[in-house]
Amino acid sequence: MTPSATRPARIRKAVFPVAGLGTRFLPATKTVPKEMLPVIDRPLIQYAVDEAIEAGCDTLVFVTNRYKHAVADYFDKAYELEQKLERSGKTEQLELVRSVLPEGVRAVFVTQAEALGLGHAVLCAKPVIGDEPFAVVLPDDLIWNRGPGALKQMADLAEQTGASVLATQNVAPEKTASYGIVATEDFAGRQGRITAIVEKPKPDVAPSTLAVVGRYVLSPRIFDLLETTTPGAGGEIQLTDAISALLAEEPVLAYRFQGTRFDCGSHIGLVEATIRYALDHETLSDAAREVMQKALSELGVIELT
Ligand code: UTP
Repeated sequence: MTPSATRPARIRKAVFPVAGLGTRFLPATKTVPKEMLPVIDRPLIQYAVDEAIEAGCDTLVFVTNRYKHAVADYFDKAYELEQKLERSGKTEQLELVRSVLPEGVRAVFVTQAEALGLGHAVLCAKPVIGDEPFAVVLPDDLIWNRGPGALKQMADLAEQTGASVLATQNVAPEKTASYGIVATEDFAGRQGRITAIVEKPKPDVAPSTLAVVGRYVLSPRIFDLLETTTPGAGGEIQLTDAISALLAEEPVLAYRFQGTRFDCGSHIGLVEATIRYALDHETLSDAAREVMQKALSELGVIELT
């Protein structure tokens, strides 16, 4: 497995498909895109962008829909706000606002005219990606790690092997119908070559309990395959179906990343992420612990000593 001579070995571009409807977070998502929901003080999209930049990406492609101005506004320069903060000497806050998109990183916005599925959203990014391997990051999967981020781990592996890499984790057997599920050859350390992938199989037909979560490093060949992918489960153009075709032609690795994933596309996942980030927060952790203990005690769940 060696990377093709014509391809850059290191990924430089990341796609963020953010054109979904976010129905699980209605009514909030009537006006606030799911990716703009915050964990503490940063929207989910910021965590995803930071992870991609850490992995070496300098071109961020946001696939949005025509209603989601908030994502583009967030990454735009906020002249008035910056001027006000500068004039009032609020340098720390000014730095926070400016660091949303570091210098040297460019944001490109592509519209997905109709929500035809994740595969279709990725295909919309083709004109910006061209013929090089790239990352796909789903911001509602928030991955917390003390060491290198999940995407950096995957980009390193893709660079070493020249293979496409999918982030995977084991899920409870009754949860397979919520994920793309893979079958693999034997794992060597954290990685195993994928031999089959199925979108949302019921537990009795799932090939394993190893689920794909929202990080991918993909060969550009995926675009040709997406172009010929017909709508699958749920009437959507599924990324999983194109990956299934890809793995017949090229190596695709399942990678068990280091880190904890929070499914912030679900209510409990967002709550869990908020608790974890608060408990690990530089200035909030003591207060967070206190309020949690107080709440549990008032509800009669624990007794405070
Ligand atoms: P989800 O399956 O989580 O759908 O999409 P959703 O619409 O965002 O949320 P719910 O289920 O209605 O609450 C997975 C990812 O694919 C993107 C979403 O934005 C999300 O990041 N997506 C999905 C698109 O960009 N376009 C689509 O047509 C579908």
